[in-house]
Amino acid sequence: MSYILAIDQGTTSSRAILFDAEMRVVSVAQEEFPQHFPDSGWVEHDPADLWSTTAATCRAAIERADLGPESIAAIGITNQRETTLLWNRATGQPLGRAIVWQDRRTAPICEALRAEGHEEMIRTRTGLLLDPYFSGTKLKWMLDTLPGARAAAQRGELAFGTVDCFLIWKLTGGRVHATDATNAARTMLFNIHTGTWDAEVCALLDIPMELLPEVRDSAGDFGTTRADLFGREIPILGVAGDQQAATIGQACFTPGMVKSTYGTGCFALLNTGDQPVLSQNRLLTTIAYRIDGRTTYALEGSIFIAGAVVQWLRDGLKIIREARETQSLAETADPAQDVVLVPAFTGLGAPYWNPDCRGAIYGLTRNSGPAELARAALESVGFQTRDLIEAMRADWAGFGEAVLRVDGGMSASDWAMQFLADILGAPVDRPQVLETTALGAAWLAGMRAGLYPSMEDFAASWARGHRFDPAMPPEIRARRYARWQRAVTATLGV
Ligand code: G3P
Repeated sequence: MSYILAIDQGTTSSRAILFDAEMRVVSVAQEEFPQHFPDSGWVEHDPADLWSTTAATCRAAIERADLGPESIAAIGITNQRETTLLWNRATGQPLGRAIVWQDRRTAPICEALRAEGHEEMIRTRTGLLLDPYFSGTKLKWMLDTLPGARAAAQRGELAFGTVDCFLIWKLTGGRVHATDATNAARTMLFNIHTGTWDAEVCALLDIPMELLPEVRDSAGDFGTTRADLFGREIPILGVAGDQQAATIGQACFTPGMVKSTYGTGCFALLNTGDQPVLSQNRLLTTIAYRIDGRTTYALEGSIFIAGAVVQWLRDGLKIIREARETQSLAETADPAQDVVLVPAFTGLGAPYWNPDCRGAIYGLTRNSGPAELARAALESVGFQTRDLIEAMRADWAGFGEAVLRVDGGMSASDWAMQFLADILGAPVDRPQVLETTALGAAWLAGMRAGLYPSMEDFAASWARGHRFDPAMPPEIRARRYARWQRAVTATLGV
């Protein structure tokens, strides 16, 4: 019993990763699943796909490692956050598809609540902005719209959950209806100060509290899997939303430590210790983890377009065939040109939160071509990260001279990470183990199982793969960042 199985249920694929007793990856299985876009701005997942790909990848990872079920000490779960599911407690049957975090259909509900003056109350209790991103208004929409849903909810027949909660339900054969504090903190229904569901916010959104799962520690007992799934009842001992799991996997356990994950978008989390810092700069206040009943908070900034800008170069502009060509193309860009790309393809996230503005390119000349656009695309990720770091610094005096720990697909690009260090004027550390999200979930479960080291020892064992030190002269950094800021201001004004 010296292996930990980490489930990473993400927005576009489900993954299962087996770690050994030394926290090394021994096998990985991954399956993509269909995305559904039934209307403009709507994004849905079929719950059956979330479950079948999760179960299949778990089995495949175990088979690939050639292990018996008795070798697995525990399961850790990490997941796309905020995505909302509703199902029948008796039959386990979901009511419709899951509404994905990216889905904007509840924007009118958010606007109405804002117009009625509720944003400040919601923000101070939940740490979140009034935005369709979070689960609360998605659940309200389901109850208001799906036939029979509200009446069934009032009879106590339904269960709500984020993806972690739904998977726990399925894995345990409906015996456990629970989530962890990090996932609860993304629902906009959870009071991050008291650590309980907020009755007033639930009443405002007309959400019966019988729907809500029990909230447990991130390293805690979430029941055991059905024996028939993997041949043995395996305990589920760790649960955290994916960005929080990456924060844990990056061992950002000390207040002031910050990580940034580059996937389709980018999510930066700053550990603020036992202090929930309420942002003055439109960042989110969230829970980094809850262990032994003690809550550690974080400030979070989300950018919608990071790796997606490279997808745009590939699939939209067709100036590269594969993502990894971006770096070599960017390297050939004319240094005399200063092309700035503001990738507001779906609006801008933190700290601007403008869903309506759209992307723009500045500084084009007749000599501007694919290389200059590739460079501007990679640089846009660095500039946006600096926006988040500036907001964090302005929000919290404890920030200091932090080093940024990076992970996710784009962190593999040396060029992008060097530019990031240059424009931040701060070191950027890339870890040896790039599977930080899965590692975070595995560590929660393995630590709870008594197999993995304590938080202190895990933090001490975190190994840097490469450090990028800033090399850009300060006056150029200042000039280039000021130009980016003018470009954003202009884009917001169009
Ligand atoms: O908040 C959304 C985030 O958790 C989604 O992450 O990696 O599945 O795109 P990812």
